[in-house]
Amino acid sequence: MTAENELLTMYWDNECLYMLDQRLLPHRVEYLACRKYPEVAGAIRDMAVRGAPAIGIAAAFGMAIAAYEGLAKGYDQPQMQAHLTGAAKELFKSRPTAVNLAWALERLNRWLSDNAGLPPQETAAGLLLEAEKIYAEDLANNRLLGINGAALVPDGSCILTHCNAGALATGGYGTALGVVRAAVEEGKDVHVYIDETRPLLQGARLTAFEMIHENIPATLITDNCAGYLMKQGKIDLILVGADRIAANGDVANKIGTYALAVMAAYHAIPFYVAAPLSTIDLTLPSGEEIVIEERSPEEVLYCGGQALAPEGINVYSPAFDVTPAGLIKAIITEKGVVYSPDQEKLYKLFAKG
Ligand code: MRU
Repeated sequence: MTAENELLTMYWDNECLYMLDQRLLPHRVEYLACRKYPEVAGAIRDMAVRGAPAIGIAAAFGMAIAAYEGLAKGYDQPQMQAHLTGAAKELFKSRPTAVNLAWALERLNRWLSDNAGLPPQETAAGLLLEAEKIYAEDLANNRLLGINGAALVPDGSCILTHCNAGALATGGYGTALGVVRAAVEEGKDVHVYIDETRPLLQGARLTAFEMIHENIPATLITDNCAGYLMKQGKIDLILVGADRIAANGDVANKIGTYALAVMAAYHAIPFYVAAPLSTIDLTLPSGEEIVIEERSPEEVLYCGGQALAPEGINVYSPAFDVTPAGLIKAIITEKGVVYSPDQEKLYKLFAKG
């Protein structure tokens, strides 16, 4: 799970996408084989693969799978085009909040319109190449973002993180955890506090797994312990990832992020968001317009197959919340750090380089 990726989030082999089934972690390391694009859409929807950049990469490979399916069925060029349009629509619907999914599909659709008229074999090869590029670029961007963010991590820091914004959520290395990794690689001594992140426990299952895997000192806490640690002066900074960042700098991330940012402001603790540009959605003026996914009540009612609550109780389970830009000290990206993010600064970031 280092940059060299001993444990890959996903890999392609012989017209098949193998995805590390994150629902089974930390107990079992198993790869889910997807040979049809609806299987990829299902794996995203059911969260076998999760994390904003990772679902974008999976969707891109889903389009390549769709093209190879069309090829196997002997589709001609117009049939292939219609089949790929259907695949893009189905993949797009699999999860609504993380913009990386739409971003990756738009990039492949752009490639398709720039290369319209190619024979099906070349279309399939071209889509696969584009998906592989998206995967490799994500890893490279996370490494850059990590270096940019590490400058904000003082030696000896205690860092609080929420959910999993690590190698497993991305093409490798991670965003928020990429910053942690880069700080450690620079020789800094850090300690990570991990929110367990109910209901699906991405912190306990995945972030803890990554930290153990790389020997980075870490402590797991329940979500409701975070405020107490801040009050005790045990947290020096908070680092989270993002699922979608609106043009004004509002950030959608895992449910519970907003509460952390409010508490951080009260305790004067710097609150940082680490995300690649593929997570910034300049088409949305503010976080108000971000669609927040609601998950099934079962995820709250059961844990490891065990019922936690009496039958008949109502459940509300939004998967994400929106943190207003005003609570964010900086957004860390591969192109640099944007302090006190706002629309003007984010537009300038895209214009850079
Ligand atoms: O529901 P998930 O597990 O897909 O949610 C993931 C998060 O909220 C992450 O913090 C976010 O995608 C950033 S991943 C680099």
